[in-house]
Parts: sequence; C-alpha cells; structure tokens
Amino acid sequence: MTINIKSASEIEAMRVACRLASEVLDYITPFVKPGVTTGELDRLCHDYMVNVQGTIPAPLNYAPPGYKPFPKSICTSVNHQVCHGIPGDKVLKNGDILNIDVTVIKDGFHGDTSRMFVVGDASIAARRLIQVTWECMWLGIEQVRPGGSLGDIGHAIQRYAESMGCSVVREFCGHGIGRQFHEDPQVLHYGRPGTGPVMQPGMIFTVEPMLNAGRREIREMADGWAIVTKDHSLSAQWEHTVLVTDSGHEVLTVSAGAPERPAELPKVA
Ligand code: MF3
Ligand code: CO
Ligand code: CO
Repeated sequence: MTINIKSASEIEAMRVACRLASEVLDYITPFVKPGVTTGELDRLCHDYMVNVQGTIPAPLNYAPPGYKPFPKSICTSVNHQVCHGIPGDKVLKNGDILNIDVTVIKDGFHGDTSRMFVVGDASIAARRLIQVTWECMWLGIEQVRPGGSLGDIGHAIQRYAESMGCSVVREFCGHGIGRQFHEDPQVLHYGRPGTGPVMQPGMIFTVEPMLNAGRREIREMADGWAIVTKDHSLSAQWEHTVLVTDSGHEVLTVSAGAPERPAELPKVA
C-alpha cells in the first residue's frame, strides 16, 4: 500500500474540488421535496456540475474492476439503500430519507462528500439514525491527526454507533482521494485504536460511515450497484473529505450550506 502525501499545490487543488462538491449539495437541497424523482435530482446536479461549475461528475461511467459503468452522475440512496443507489424513476415521498453522494473532478482532482436529506417529515427513528450517523462521522474526523492510526477513526465510530444500538456496515469504507477517485488507504469505520496505517500530514482521505438501524448485513441489488440492508432496516451515511495537517486536520468538503460540526460531540462512557 502506498499512501501518497499531497504537496502544497495539490492540497490547494483538492480544497477547490472539495468545496465544489459541497456546493453541489447546497444547490440541490431545495429540490429535495415530495414528488421529485431521484432521476430529476441527478439531472439537476449533472447540469450544475457541467454547465455552471465546469466540473466532471466522477460517478458517471465509473467502472472499478468487477463493476459495470455507473450510469448516472450522483448516487441517491433511499431508506434501506445503504449506498451507490442509481438515480431513476423513483418518486420521493413524505417521510423518505436519502443520501446524496457527490464526487466532482476539477483540474484533475476529486472532491467527495455526501449528506442525508429528509423528505418532508421523517419518523423519530429515521431522524435518530441520521443524527447518530452524523455524530459518528464527526467522532471519526476528530481522530484525524498526525501520529494517530486509522484504527482510531474506526474505533471511535464503531463504539458510539453500537452504544446507540446501530450497526456499522463493514463492506464499504472511506478511502484516500486525489487524482484518483479511490486511492489507498482504506479507512474502515470499525476497528481497534492504535492499529492500521499511521496518519501523516498531507494525507487526504474520506470518512463516510454507513450505519444501519438493524443488522449490519447487506445485499447487492440486481442493477449491480445499489446496496441495501439485508433486513430492510433504514440506513444512513454522511461523508467528508479530510486533510491531515501538522496540528490535526482540515475538513475540505465545506461550503456556505454545509451543516456545521456540532459544538459538542457525544462522549461514550
Ligand atoms: N462516492 C462514493 C464514495 O464515497 C463512490 C460512488 S462510486 C459510484 O466512495 F460509481 F457509485 F458513483
Ligand atoms: Co467516498
Ligand atoms: Co462519496
């Protein structure tokens, strides 16, 4: 495994790509309402990326080994879908929850971020799952600092998730990112403190925990991409791209509309 360390100019290019990815989520937010289809959200984001930002939607035709090309420009994962939902004819209805995952390429660099959205008013259980997952992402990010281990991140996420009765999806993880969409290292959302690669200034990777309200097991849908919970329980995910700095970390996927880090993070007994 080679984890590449970004130079000052590469970091600056990543700041730009990441801000643009976050701005796509800002842009799409008011359109997430009952009656809209996930395909319409995809078309709106696609046009905004290509025509307004001059960015390339990284998912479109993305085909890692063993996968057929992803046919759309964003991922929309609704309710019991965990990740990689393909936008289409699905009409969003009151009470649905969904993750919109945006990855843009600008000047050869990737910015990757996702947020949860509530369509109309969601159940207390759905809102709780979204909140716990949000806190998990930030507890993970809090562990990002030079000299720390990637296992510190996974441990912080798993410990809080499970203390709240949620399960952590194992099959998908955070990842290094830069000129490639998915680079080393893998950033697991579970694990033991002090294990795994040691973080160094200039590393850039995502933290993107997926939590299920029920059991952690997943299944792949027949479209070859969308992942769902095996027990059909709700699933949630949030994602930021993060830089390891000399003193700690910098969250790169920020913009005017990005929800702010909670002032206080939960403490697990
Ligand atoms: N954006 C996803 C991630 O966070 C990857 C999506 S791959 C796609 O890693 F092809 F489904 F878009
Ligand atoms: Co990612
Ligand atoms: Co993503």
